[in-house]
This record gives sequence, structure tokens and C-alpha cells, in this order.
Amino acid sequence: MSEEEVYTAIGKDGFQRLIAAFYRQVPGDSILGPMYPKDDMEGAEYRMRTFLIGRFGGPPTYIQERGHPRLRMRHLPFQVNQEARDRWYRLMSNALDETKLPAEADAILRHFFDGMSSFMMNS
Ligand code: HEM
Repeated sequence: MSEEEVYTAIGKDGFQRLIAAFYRQVPGDSILGPMYPKDDMEGAEYRMRTFLIGRFGGPPTYIQERGHPRLRMRHLPFQVNQEARDRWYRLMSNALDETKLPAEADAILRHFFDGMSSFMMNS
């Protein structure tokens, strides 16, 4: 399976369930909770979901609405150190465990999140 085929394999529903499972853990998290916008968690969930859908072969809604992702730049306002990176990746791994996507899609996403979360570190 190529990265572009992940959307065909798991659909909007797969991304919806995965990202909901991730954000369900965020508000109560000691490191990530304070970083995310309490009054706009639905918006944060939507931005992450549409980004991933576009990145993995689905409709390009994120780029249409937000422009080029430039994710490292967009994360500069937040202190993403090793601890924050590891916590983010842990919560996303939990979300993948819970969502039980088909094995190939799960492996591609896990690998992507591992690399991207390290790439996002800025302190
Ligand atoms: C490594 C630890 C990370 C931390 C602490 C972190 C934290 C945050 C925070 C606090 C926001 C703002 C929430 C919002 O209002 O949208 C955000 C936005 C976002 N993050 Fe992360 N993030 C991390 C890693 C990642 C990774 C690995 C990805 C991609 C796989 C990602 C994708 C995004 C996207 C797409 C947005 C929305 C950007 C926008 O359009 O404004 N983040 N992140």
C-alpha cells in the first residue's frame, strides 16, 4: 500500500475515528492539555483530520482552506521539546491501538507520525 492509498483503505471514517481518539486524550494530558485551544478543540480536531486526509490521498480540503501546511512554522508558537514530542507520539499510538485500522494502513501512519513528531521538535 502506498501513502496515497491509505485514504481509500480507511476512508474519512477511519481518520475521523483515529483523530477523535487522539483528541479525546488531549484535554486531560499534563503536557499537551495546556498547549491546545480549550475553546476550539473541535477546530483543532478538524484541522488535523483534514490535513491527514489530504496528505494520504483524500480531498485537499486542508490546503484549500489553510494554504501550504508549513507545519514546522505553525508549531513555532509551541514548545515542542523531546518530552512533548514523546507524549504526542504516545497519545497518537494509543489512538492507533484503539482504532484498530487495517494492519498496512496502521503501519504507514505509525511510521509517518514517528518521523513527523521528531521533525516538529523546536526546542
Ligand atoms: C510533536 C508534538 C506536537 C505538538 C506538541 C503539537 C501541538 C500542536 C498544537 C498545540 C496545535 C494548535 C492546535 C490548533 O489550534 O490547530 C497544533 C496544530 C497542528 N498540528 Fe501539531 N503538534 C505536534 C505534532 C504534530 C504532528 C506530528 C503533526 C502531523 C502529523 C501535527 C499536525 C498539526 C496540524 C495539521 C495542526 C493545525 C495547523 C494549522 O492549520 O493551524 N502536529 N499542533
